[in-house]
Order: sequence, then C-alpha cells, then structure tokens
Amino acid sequence: MNYDHAFHAGNAADVLKHAVLALLLDRLRQKPTPFFVLDSHAGAGRHDLGGEAAQRSGEAAAGILRLWPKRGDFPELATWLDTIAGLNPPPDGEAGELAPTLYPGSPLLAAAALRPDDRLVLVEGAEAPSIALRRLFGRDRRVALHRRDAWEALGALLPPRPPLPRRGLVLIDPAFEAADEFARLGEAVVTAARRWPGGMIMAWYPVKEGNQVRDFMVDLAASGLTAVLRVEMMFRAVSRDGWQGAGLAGCGLILVRPPWQLDSQIAALLPRLGKAMGLPVGGGCVEWLVPEGPAETD
Ligand SMILES: C[S@@+](CC[C@H](N)C(=O)[O-])C[C@H]1O[C@@H](n2cnc3c(N)ncnc32)[C@H](O)[C@@H]1O
Repeated sequence: MNYDHAFHAGNAADVLKHAVLALLLDRLRQKPTPFFVLDSHAGAGRHDLGGEAAQRSGEAAAGILRLWPKRGDFPELATWLDTIAGLNPPPDGEAGELAPTLYPGSPLLAAAALRPDDRLVLVEGAEAPSIALRRLFGRDRRVALHRRDAWEALGALLPPRPPLPRRGLVLIDPAFEAADEFARLGEAVVTAARRWPGGMIMAWYPVKEGNQVRDFMVDLAASGLTAVLRVEMMFRAVSRDGWQGAGLAGCGLILVRPPWQLDSQIAALLPRLGKAMGLPVGGGCVEWLVPEGPAETD
C-alpha cells in the first residue's frame, strides 16, 4: 500500500465526502437511540495542511482553504465546520479564526459525533495511519481500532452484533490504487447493504475517463438494492472532446438508504459548494440510481 492521504487531505473531493458524512452523522444524532459507524478505510484521522505532502500537492488550497472564508454561507454544515475550527483554535491573544492547518479526516468527524453509547470501528491496513489512529483514539472506549484488510473486515464486522448499536452507517472510502477497486467497491456496497438491511452505506469513488463509473453504476442498478442515491461533483468542465486537463475529473458518492430528504439537501448544497471552490458551474448530479421502495420487476 503506497497511498498517502496526506497529499489529498482537504481537497475538493474530501470537502464533498466530509460535508455529506457530517450531514449523515447529524441525522444519526437526531434520535436518542445509540448508533454505530464502521469506517472501513479510515486513514490517519487527522492531517497537517502545513506539512510537506499537503504543501507539495497544493490540493487543500483548492478545496477547504478556498471554502473556509465563505463558511458563513453554509449554516447546514455547521457541525463539520465547527469540528475543523475546534482543531484550529487561534493562538493566545489573537482574535478570530485563522485558516485551518489541521484537517479532520473521517475518523475524527465520526468520533466528534459520538455520544457515550454510540460506537465507532476504524479499519486501516497501513502501518503509519494505524499508528496515528492509535495515538488519537487509543484511550477512547467508544472507538475500536482494527489493523486489517478493509474488504475482509466489511464481511466480518457486518451486521453490527450486540452489544453494538443496531442502527448506523458504513463509510467505504478506498484508495483506488488497485485496478480492480471499482469492482471490489461495488461488491462491498452490495454485500454491506444486504448483510445490514437497516444500515446506511456511503461509498466514495473517483470520476475518471473511461467506462469504469458507467460499469459501476450499471452493476449497482442491477444488484437488486433499492434507495441508491448517486451524488457527483465535477472538477473540470466537459467539452466535446471530453474532460479538459489532467488529474481527477470529479468524484462521487453512492448512498444506500440515505435519510429522508437528504437528496434535496445535497442538491441544494452541491452547486453552492462547487461555486465556493471555483468549480465548473453545472457539473455534477444528485439522482436516484435506484429509487426508494421496492424495485420494479417485470
Ligand atoms: C482515501 S484514504 C481514507 C481517507 C479517510 N476515509 C478520510 O476521509 O479521512 C484510504 C485509506 O485506505 C487505506 N487502505 C487502502 N487499501 C486498504 C485495504 N485493502 N484495507 C485497509 N485499508 C486500506 C489506505 O492506507 C488509506 O489510509
């Protein structure tokens, strides 16, 4: 495993993923019954935007750091933005908040949402992020850490068994280093949703040239799952010749059984987020790949 999320922390893809994750966590907290979160590709939990990797890539500068001065325009993202602000208190004697240098990954966002009886399981396969997670969460009895293979863990840990809470969320956020990662992600989404019929699933994927996203959608649509929402944000404009420029063309999220009206909430949020980060107008979508309710059969 060579992937290091430190290069990508706080980029526009992280902004979409973490903003939507925070909305899901907000909804889980609305009910008093405890919830469970499984983060299958956890990463290091916290990233230094002033560090060498982030500075070298410059990706955060086009993501969270571009959004930050406009954060007052996003009251619905208050929980997420407050968590970032809480990691970056102003130095003694200085008023106001500075641009963040520490950026919370999905483990810190999920942990920030936990109440005493909620539970979080973090799975990470690589050594350095696993050590970082142990430093952050080693003493938190609500958080369990697993250094193991994510794909194997998704099968082994779902559905959550007593005494773990029965409702909650799985985040599947692969590194997309391996050629078969789209296929593995599709299988994992379907398996997780079937093994945990009450659970919500959120999966992240890159949008690149080629047919991988189309094939992924075709397979998911044919899987028999219902209530599958597709959310995409484009980073580059599309022309007659395809996407212009190098790098990721965009990114997407698959949400299985998202909470009521989250689709319209994200549809209202997406163009404003894109505009705040200077992304192409009109890029992206929020659409039901398979609608809620029983799938139609002929
Ligand atoms: C995109 S990063 C995760 C970012 C994190 N979810 C966040 O939002 O802050 C993907 C992580 O998955 C880990 N990883 C990749 N393949 C894995 C596997 N098969 N099993 C467990 N972890 C894996 C990588 O080491 C990396 O830390």
